[in-house]
Amino acid sequence: MGLSMNRRSFIRLAGGGVVVAAAGLAGWQYASRNVFPVPETALAAWAEAGQAQDLGRFVLSYAVLAPNSHNKQPWIADLSVEGEIGLSMDTDRLLPKTDPFNRQMMMGLGTFLELLVQAAAVRGHRADIVLFPEGVPGEHIDSRRMVTVRLIPDANVTVDPLFAAAPDRRTDRRAYDLGQTVTSDEIAALIAAAAPFPLRAGVETDAARVARIRDIANRAWRHEILTERTLMESMEVLRVGTAEIDRHRDGLVIDDPMVVMLERFGLFDRTTPPAPDSMAITAQLDDFAAITAATPAYLWIVTEGNSRAQQIEAGRAYVRMNLAGTALGLSMHPNQQSLQEYPEVASEYTAIHQALNAPAPQFTVQMLARLGRVPQGSAPLRPSPRRGVEAQLA
Ligand SMILES: Cc1cc2nc3c(=O)[nH]c(=O)nc-3n(C[C@H](O)[C@H](O)[C@H](O)COP(=O)(O)O)c2cc1C
Repeated sequence: MGLSMNRRSFIRLAGGGVVVAAAGLAGWQYASRNVFPVPETALAAWAEAGQAQDLGRFVLSYAVLAPNSHNKQPWIADLSVEGEIGLSMDTDRLLPKTDPFNRQMMMGLGTFLELLVQAAAVRGHRADIVLFPEGVPGEHIDSRRMVTVRLIPDANVTVDPLFAAAPDRRTDRRAYDLGQTVTSDEIAALIAAAAPFPLRAGVETDAARVARIRDIANRAWRHEILTERTLMESMEVLRVGTAEIDRHRDGLVIDDPMVVMLERFGLFDRTTPPAPDSMAITAQLDDFAAITAATPAYLWIVTEGNSRAQQIEAGRAYVRMNLAGTALGLSMHPNQQSLQEYPEVASEYTAIHQALNAPAPQFTVQMLARLGRVPQGSAPLRPSPRRGVEAQLA
C-alpha cells in the first residue's frame, strides 16, 4: 500500500499541483510510511507500560494502550481514593458527527477497562467494576463518572493468557494477503476470546458473503467522505509530520512524505473539504476499495439490544479478539462506517445488519473489522501514539 500511495501522490503533484497532491490527505485509513517517523516521544507510553510501582498507574499504563476510535483517547482517570480508579470521559474528545450517540466511545471505554482488568491480575489483584455509579448516561454521554474500579488483592486471580499480546496489538490498515486464509481453529480461538460476554461474535469467510460485506463497506466509506461534516471530523484529527504528531500524541497519523512536505510549505489546507469529484476524494475511494478487496475475512460482534453496558462489553470483547488475533499473527482493521448512526449511511446500516443476520433494531452490530494476514515479509507495524498516563489523570 505504502509505495503505491507515495507514487500516486508524487505523480499527481507533478501533474496537477496542490489540489491533486491532496490525494493523500485523508490517507489516515492507510498504513504509515515511516519516512518522517512517528517520534519516539509520542510512543513512549508503549515502552513505559508496566514500569510504574504504584498499582493504579501500573494498570492504567496498559489501559491507555487500548484501541479506540480515531485514537482520541477520551479517558480520564481519578486516582484520588486509595485502591480505587474512577473513570470518566473527556467530552472534548468525542466524535459527534460519526458517532452521534457515542456508541463507539463507550466501546473504547470497554477496551480500556478490559486491559485494566487484565493488568490488575499481573499484580495479583482482581478489579471489581461498578458501572455507572452516577446513573446511566442517556442519548449523549457527559462528564459524569462512568465506572468505579476497586482493585482488591486476590490470591485466586490468574493472568489472562491474552495479556501477553498487549504490547504487540495494533490496528493494521494495510492490504491483506488473499492467499492466506483464516483457519477454522483460528476462528474458534477468536470467538472463544469473546466468550466471557453475552454477545455474538463471529468471522465471515464465505466468498459470497465476504463480497456482500465488502460492497456495503465501500458504499459506507463513500458516504463518510462525501458527507462534509463526517469527512471534516476526520480531517480535524489528522496529525501531519513529526512535530504535530508529538504535540498531540493522538488522532490519525499522516507521515506520507509528500503530504508532510506540503504541510511544511503551508499548502495543505485542512479547513476546506475537497470537492466530491476531486482526485483527493476519488483516490480515497479507490484506495479504500483496494484494501477492501484485499480482505479475506471479516470479524463481527453483535449484541441483542444496545445498552450502554452492552457497548462497553462489546469493546471488551473486541480488544480480547484483537489480542487473540495478535497472538495468532492475524491483523485486524475496524471498519465502523456502515455501523454509524448518522442519516446519510442509514441504508448501509440496514444492509450490514441484514447481511450479518442481525436485524436492527433488535440487534446492533457493534464491530465490523477486516481480518487477515499481511503478506509475508511485510514490515512490522509501529504502534500508534499515546498521550500517556499522566496526561489522563483527573
Ligand atoms: C470502537 C472502535 C472503532 C474503530 N473504528 C475504526 C474505523 O472505522 N477505521 C479505522 O481505520 N480504525 C478504527 N478503529 C481503530 C482505531 O483507529 C485505533 O484503535 C486507534 O487509531 C489506535 O491505534 P491502535 O489500535 O493501533 O493502537 C476503531 C477502534 C475502535 C475501538
